[in-house]
Amino acid sequence: MPDIKKVAIIGLGIGRSHIVEGYLPHPDRFELAALCDLNEERLEAIGSEFGIERRTTRFADVINMDDIDIIDICTPPSIHFELISQALAAGKHVVCEKPLVGSLADADTIIELEKSARGRLMPIFQYRYGDGVQKAKRIIDAGLAGKPYAATCETHWIRTPEYYAVPWRGKWATELGGVLMTQSIHLHDMLTYLMGPIEALFGRVSTRVNDIEVEDCASASLLMQNGALATISATLGSVEQISRLRMCFENVLIESNHEPYSPGQDPWKIVPVSEEIGRKIDALLAGWQPVPIRFETQMRLFHEALVSAGPLPVTTVDARAALELVTAFYESSETRSEVKFPVGPESAKYKSWRPV
Ligand SMILES: NC(=O)c1ccc[n+]([C@@H]2O[C@H](COP(=O)([O-])OP(=O)(O)OC[C@H]3O[C@@H](n4cnc5c(N)ncnc54)[C@H](O)[C@@H]3O)[C@@H](O)[C@H]2O)c1
Repeated sequence: MPDIKKVAIIGLGIGRSHIVEGYLPHPDRFELAALCDLNEERLEAIGSEFGIERRTTRFADVINMDDIDIIDICTPPSIHFELISQALAAGKHVVCEKPLVGSLADADTIIELEKSARGRLMPIFQYRYGDGVQKAKRIIDAGLAGKPYAATCETHWIRTPEYYAVPWRGKWATELGGVLMTQSIHLHDMLTYLMGPIEALFGRVSTRVNDIEVEDCASASLLMQNGALATISATLGSVEQISRLRMCFENVLIESNHEPYSPGQDPWKIVPVSEEIGRKIDALLAGWQPVPIRFETQMRLFHEALVSAGPLPVTTVDARAALELVTAFYESSETRSEVKFPVGPESAKYKSWRPV
């Protein structure tokens, strides 16, 4: 028997991509049942485009729709916490865009709420999916890569004043942060997904490209728990856009695709140190089953986790780790000192990372 979950999408900017890439490819798993957006024009246009008849401008209406299984939150970030809390309290499963919430304190509250909730909560980190990143993950997890030495993580994108014409963007109160929060958060999640947790960070942030409150350039030096050293460089002023993750291990060099918005896809550069390691990698990856990029795989794995009650592909602990990195970054930049992980309630930035 198919177990089709009924989905309501809240917010139809990136929410439209969730529909196209994440749900429509899986008609045997999901039914798009309702749409919600404050912008009626957008609501009508996207409702008509996909033939979704149930449309509302009120989130409370969605909460009261008994047949909806999954509420997918794609609104601006400053209201994620409130909407997640309400959706979990209503017993719904929840998908939520990055950044999950606006502080580590709020992330910890959500993790607590989740423990007693009937529904499950999956944060979005779709850059984890694609053949390149998944092959790298398999090689590293199998122990074939050997000792990790160093990594670089570049998010060099471009954003112009037109992008910031959308009122919520560029402001602490509504975007919650800048390039670290909105753009490079994806590649930083990929770094820790592949290289494991961070031990300490020294970072700097600066606003140099656009006339905005939040940072649009950032750099950092990281010590990973496994002893490797990593550097982060992020800017929204790069005329040519790339996302690039490059990792040097004892046995292999691994470098991502440079596609800015889907660096997880093939081809990745995987250069073994010897023919023997090359043969082991080939054997490990023999019979590879393609992993579609981005939301297509993340949503499929979400459905699998729901029906099997198995582990979620991306968890609130992962989302917290991404926010922990950002919190440490802001703290380090402000205090001009190294920040040690984990970052918890003792941190001055635990309840809010906004500048003093
Ligand atoms: N994963 C990714 O690659 C990715 C890409 C872009 C944006 N995002 C994230 O998605 C979120 C939305 O970003 P966006 O670029 O789509 O923004 P957007 O401004 O284009 O769209 C947000 C939509 O939410 C609607 N909205 C606002 N408040 C609402 C409410 N209370 N109820 C219902 N609808 C409401 C707005 O009317 C708007 O149509 C942000 O958190 C952003 O960081 C993620």
